[in-house]
Amino acid sequence: MADSVTIIDNRTGESIEIPIVNGGVDATEWSKLLPGIWFYDPSFSTTAAAASAITELDGEAGILRYRGYPIEQLAEQSTYLEVAYLLIHGELPTPEQYEVWKHDITYHTFIHENVRKRFMEGFHHDAHPMGILVSTLAALSTFYPDAKDIFDEQSRYKQVIRLIAKMPTLAAGAHRHSVGMPFVYPDNSLDFTSNFLSMMWKVAEPRYEADPVLARALDILFILHADHEQNCGTTAMRVAGSAHADPYSCAAAAATALYGPRHGGANEAVIRMLTRIGSMDNVLPFIEDVKAGKGRLQGFGHRVYKNYDPRAKIIKETADKVFEVTGKNPLLDIALKLEEVALSDEYFTSRRLYPNVDFYSGLIYQAMGFPIEMFTVLFAIPRMSGWLAHWIELLDRNERIARPRQLYDGEPVRDYVPMDQRKASA
Ligand code: CMC
Repeated sequence: MADSVTIIDNRTGESIEIPIVNGGVDATEWSKLLPGIWFYDPSFSTTAAAASAITELDGEAGILRYRGYPIEQLAEQSTYLEVAYLLIHGELPTPEQYEVWKHDITYHTFIHENVRKRFMEGFHHDAHPMGILVSTLAALSTFYPDAKDIFDEQSRYKQVIRLIAKMPTLAAGAHRHSVGMPFVYPDNSLDFTSNFLSMMWKVAEPRYEADPVLARALDILFILHADHEQNCGTTAMRVAGSAHADPYSCAAAAATALYGPRHGGANEAVIRMLTRIGSMDNVLPFIEDVKAGKGRLQGFGHRVYKNYDPRAKIIKETADKVFEVTGKNPLLDIALKLEEVALSDEYFTSRRLYPNVDFYSGLIYQAMGFPIEMFTVLFAIPRMSGWLAHWIELLDRNERIARPRQLYDGEPVRDYVPMDQRKASA
């Protein structure tokens, strides 16, 4: 049996055989037979917009691998910084390579004083930290004009280091601003995640000592969120990157997409939903409302995972360890009940809706003391390494500018009507 498909244009009788390579069929081959006829696939549900060697995801089997390494092994044995190296370079680092990487990241954590004083402090006191993050990421491009040299290897490496290193500083800065606390400078003697926690929580103590269980739990969450192939934010990164914009501007585009409640904003939406439900008595009526189309069960469902989200499984285990230190999040019982009810309800099972990465991550963040508005920021910190890995890949593969087609379904041609002769349309 040939590993190919044959399509016939019934208008002309012409046919074309297209090989199936790596699970895909080449759209340029199809369009040779169908010039001027476009594939209609808004939201790219059935379109592979890129070939990529970074993350392998099999939604049916619940598989997630970075550069071939199973997410379960990375979450158990690795650190976020090592995973960031893996995503960017394609291989796990040797001890020497890791030392250099760690040193380079650690020594680029500071941000220009103008970014802090003029940009971050300029925001209103109740500005959403994701809004601050998106804007300051874009602003950073003006501080590093060399970032435009996207085909210069050295410049590219420098921007990658800067972006990964500065994310925790920008994130913590956005939080401190919103609560009126003084900015905490990075402590280069701490590891990546402990340094972030220090910038978040340090008050008057000379050195902030993060609880090792909580620091490790957050590092695991960073590993789980580091990449997820062609999701909405990464696609935004690749689309902007394909126009050869600098990486700071591209990252701002990606962070903007992540901000949305259907994407990275869902962990925030989960806690708001659980708080609104408020008590166990309200779980069943809430589920009935969801089934009646009055809103969604936040943290449930995924475009590609239709059996289970492997990240959700690891997060649930991590949550238990965190709650041993912080005490149980009072919303946990409502979440567990929601999950139990949904997983035995035909509405959810027939649509293959299961808890996703965001269902339990918000409960952990909240138990650790992070305000709800910071949840998507916590997603963005590690996702930077995934965005950059995709940005490098698309440049290395010399991809063409992203420029989809459309099917026009608006008005046919009509003549301009002078303003005084127009009637209001219904
Ligand atoms: N609650 C209730 N019904 C749902 C939900 C949900 N969370 N998700 C999907 N459905 C229903 C939907 O109404 C539709 O039903 P019907 O066929 O009767 O019209 C069916 O399931 C298919 O939904 P869809 O909108 O076509 O699915 P999608 O693949 O376009 O959307 C999703 C995926 C994640 C946006 C969606 O499941 C959702 O909105 N979930 C809640 C938000 C959420 O948790 N997002 C985090 C995603 S994981 C983090 C990340 O990777 O960013």
